[in-house]
Amino acid sequence: IPEYDLKSSGKKIPRLGFGTATFPFEPAEVTKKAILQAIEIGYRHFDTASMYGSEQPLGEAIIEAVSVGLIESRDELFITSKLWCSDAHGELVLPSLQRSLQNLKLEYLDLFLIHWPISAIPGTYEFPIKEEDFIPMDFNAVWAAMEECQTLGLTKSIGVCNFSCKKLADILAFAKIPPAINQVEMNPVWQQKKLREFCNDHGILLTAYSPLGAKGTPWGTNKVMENEVLNEIAKAKGKTLAQICIRWVYEQEVIVLVKSFNSERMKQNLDIFDWSFSEEELEMINAIPQSRGSDPFTTIDNIWDGEI
Ligand code: A2P
Repeated sequence: IPEYDLKSSGKKIPRLGFGTATFPFEPAEVTKKAILQAIEIGYRHFDTASMYGSEQPLGEAIIEAVSVGLIESRDELFITSKLWCSDAHGELVLPSLQRSLQNLKLEYLDLFLIHWPISAIPGTYEFPIKEEDFIPMDFNAVWAAMEECQTLGLTKSIGVCNFSCKKLADILAFAKIPPAINQVEMNPVWQQKKLREFCNDHGILLTAYSPLGAKGTPWGTNKVMENEVLNEIAKAKGKTLAQICIRWVYEQEVIVLVKSFNSERMKQNLDIFDWSFSEEELEMINAIPQSRGSDPFTTIDNIWDGEI
């Protein structure tokens, strides 16, 4: 799997990673087994979050992968976790990372991300978040605490998720350590052209979640896997629609996270590196009408600052 250098960390990030968010949560044993299979198949980049319930099974899978010899050490893996909204308060950031590391049984993360650009009342670990529990984020205090986590060596890099251009610009204005990554929804039906340009200009890598539209989840949509243009291209190329989506995101020089707990689909999703699109196919994808997946935070009207 091709990799990118990750600014300031000295570590490389595989450009295709394995997502572990499930809704409702899969039992820990199911998640652990899927992750072990993924390591065996060749995935080396794993994405979790304190809100996903997958930190513990991921940690157990890593220990087992080392003990049965699938990998020699944890250092061969790239592990990301995320700060939940109710911990997005200056003094709660470090304790939250320490809990994540405990769950994962790791000494360090490769990447620690702010999960959403909003805070919630401390102690309320709920998803979706009730409207009355939202609090605007003190970006200065939270980002300073994220920087401390990196300075302490508990994470190699820090970044954000679901940040608009405007919010990235705000953070860049005072950050001592700029965010290495912005993780956002991206697929052929939500192409993020403006955000990609902004991130490119500012040396921030973009990671795409929901490359297949995450159908069936509260943040997902059927529109990607049911898109006729993508279906047509898939048929013409002898690929699956999922592969068309993953390859397209990959070609945009964005890191892709894809979730499948089915070993055949895990293999299929990795099989995107030795073919590419024609100019005509790229134009067809470019012209797909755009719409975002279902935003779990629709009650907050300024998450995306009106950007499309
Ligand atoms: P499953 O785990 O049963 O494979 P996203 O990555 O956009 O969040 O989408 C994840 C969803 O897409 C999951 O429901 C997953 O189901 C399904 N999925 C993953 N890979 C494929 C594939 N190659 N073909 C069809 N569905 C897939």
